[in-house]
Amino acid sequence: MDFNRTRYIPMSRRRRIYEGKGKTLYEGPEPGTLIQHFKDDATAFNAKKHQIIEGKGVLNNRISEYVFQHLNDIGVPTHFIKRLNMREQLIREVEIVPLEVVVRNVAAGSLSQRLGIEEGTQLPRSIIEFYYKNDQLGDPMVSEEHITAFGWATPQEIDDMMALAIRVNDFLTGLFLGVGIRLVDFKMECGRLFENDMMRIIVADEISPDSCRLWDIKSNEKMDKDRFRRDLGGLLEAYTEVAKRLGILIENDQLSSMKARVTVTLKNGILDPQGKAIEGALKSLGVDGIASVRQGKVFDIEVAGADKAKAEAALKEAADKLLANTVIENYRVEIV
Ligand SMILES: Nc1ncnc2c1ncn2[C@@H]1O[C@H](COP(=O)(O)OP(=O)(O)OP(=O)(O)O)[C@@H](O)[C@H]1O
Ligand SMILES: [Mg+2]
Repeated sequence: MDFNRTRYIPMSRRRRIYEGKGKTLYEGPEPGTLIQHFKDDATAFNAKKHQIIEGKGVLNNRISEYVFQHLNDIGVPTHFIKRLNMREQLIREVEIVPLEVVVRNVAAGSLSQRLGIEEGTQLPRSIIEFYYKNDQLGDPMVSEEHITAFGWATPQEIDDMMALAIRVNDFLTGLFLGVGIRLVDFKMECGRLFENDMMRIIVADEISPDSCRLWDIKSNEKMDKDRFRRDLGGLLEAYTEVAKRLGILIENDQLSSMKARVTVTLKNGILDPQGKAIEGALKSLGVDGIASVRQGKVFDIEVAGADKAKAEAALKEAADKLLANTVIENYRVEIV
């Protein structure tokens, strides 16, 4: 399959497969693929706490792309194929194992609460935990006994997931350490990929500051979703800093986008047969008070970046080169 020649599917015609709290999955361009769309929704405590943080989805898409691409490169199998745009990536469809695999290097969060170990305590070794993915039950922690007894995964699959989790942990620990960040813990999801009668377990979902605990080495400042969970504020700034340190973001303005509208109308004096036909139809339908109708076109466009002047210049270029026939048409550019 040539994934570089992805067929373009207009947003409106795409089939939505799943609407999650933080992401939406759409049917992909090829069988066995999906499009993973990152939303700006931040949720915690089983979605009891919810907020829209504009730009978060864009950052998570980029950070997750970076992590998954590197995992692929070092031979850790993942669902990631390629990033498509600011919020979306092409992924392989898998059968999600209904478990969250958590790897902990430093005590924090529920481990500290449950076992009374002070947050920030280095653990004697990396600890792997499993949680049953079930919103109604609040994703309870489960043991291997529960997993095999209830058939959520086989012993072999548990081994595979643990081996993957350790490789991902080693990679992430080094990656973040190199940019002055301590990987305290993270969560990952795995899925079953079926390929020519073979099945293997691969890493799926996302790996981002939403699913990792990341502390600045020097200040211990939190650079992850705990900023939202614990009302510390500055979530977007923290995620942006993570992306910048990883060398993903060069400018802040890559994060935002503007909605714009280009309206194209016929110049005065140019014959408009369609406008005339509509005018005639309206009159014959008995709609009163119509003097004349001129028809035009409207383009709703999303422009990347936060620079208005740059966006206007790009839209003017688009109109001049393609959207309008400037011999007979006028156009108007608005940032809305
Ligand atoms: N490659 C994949 N194939 C199929 N499903 C996937 C794949 N990667 C991730 N998913 C699933 O897509 C969903 C992503 O959406 P999101 O993370 O918003 O879910 P959620 O509503 O938070 O629920 P969850 O508690 O399951 O994470 C998750 O259910 C995840 O398990
Ligand atoms: Mg999720």
